[in-house]
Amino acid sequence: MSAVSVIPHSRPTLGPEDRRAVSTALTSSQLAQGPYVAEFEARLAGLTGAAGAVATSSGTAALHLALVALGIGPGDDVILPSYVCAGPLHAIQHAGATPLLVDCDPHTYNLDPIHVKRTLTRRTKAILAPHLFGLPADLAALLSLGVPIIEDCAQALGATYQGRPVGGIGTLGICSFYATKVITTGEGGMLLSRDADLLHRARDLRDYDERRTLRTRFNYKLTDFQAALGLSQLQKLPDFLAKRRALAAHYHRRLQDLPLITPFVPADRDHIFYRYVVRVTGGLKIMLTRLAQAGVTARRPVFRPLHRYLNLTGFQGTEEVWQTALSLPIYPTLGNDIVRVIRAVRAIFSGQAGDRSRQRIASKR
Ligand SMILES: Cc1ncc(COP(=O)(O)O)c(C=O)c1O
Repeated sequence: MSAVSVIPHSRPTLGPEDRRAVSTALTSSQLAQGPYVAEFEARLAGLTGAAGAVATSSGTAALHLALVALGIGPGDDVILPSYVCAGPLHAIQHAGATPLLVDCDPHTYNLDPIHVKRTLTRRTKAILAPHLFGLPADLAALLSLGVPIIEDCAQALGATYQGRPVGGIGTLGICSFYATKVITTGEGGMLLSRDADLLHRARDLRDYDERRTLRTRFNYKLTDFQAALGLSQLQKLPDFLAKRRALAAHYHRRLQDLPLITPFVPADRDHIFYRYVVRVTGGLKIMLTRLAQAGVTARRPVFRPLHRYLNLTGFQGTEEVWQTALSLPIYPTLGNDIVRVIRAVRAIFSGQAGDRSRQRIASKR
């Protein structure tokens, strides 16, 4: 009897053109930051409408650089959601600032601007706004608060908000190119801004070599062969996004009659479906186990909310979402395996289809 192959939760999409691009870059003697990095930066700036971009070794490094470029340090507060991975929190801690956690909107999973407004202090120097799972945060409401916005596009490269690409709308934006992100350089990141001074400061802080003055700088550079991979991946971004959207539409068609909540997309935003997250009321752990038994790797899309790490109470929306959110496999190479995922999910609910209205959360708009 042959074993059932396991469908991974996420996977990088690499082809022969990516391997060729890295190989060509490696034939030059320029391994560290060089012309491929400069081109990758220019392309990313062009794509997002930013005035410029600064490539970094990771998304967390880009977030840290963004905070330091804004002059944020000890005594300053930075707002961020509790419902996000620990990277953004670490960037704030590295800068020596105080993180102020805010609850999420359980419909979009992004920062709830009402909670943000209530949390603002006189010391709040930035709002770190992830576009979680590929859906842009409510940028208009956040920008109206008059505090610098750092758009965290680690999961949302290519998404649009009111017709504009994310990353170039806030004061600063960052991307991550970790192995399983929308496009990858293995590890890597990018800082974006429309503000030339902020870009200049971030560029100055990124590395330390041969400087006339001694201030505390970093080594947050991306290598040239990573940037060559990034450029090759970037060419395929439209195809990656089309495939993600087609897979999400397929999931939606085949799951919407089940008692789960499928993703909500406000009319003014475009979702790129970095993650396809559904919510199940009750039995999340059982569902994860049943899916694993069927060879489908599903996950909680956020491992642990930050308020739990920091032993803080409250955060009702985040708790509600964390205890019910399930992320199904979605990536450009998923292909026909989506049929197996859907079959496995439907098998769990067999007999319950048509019961959706019971657990549906009404749309806010
Ligand atoms: C929303 C978000 N922000 C920041 C990061 C940090 O990016 P990196 O892993 O490249 O440091 C991640 C990475 O997973 C992320 O998902």
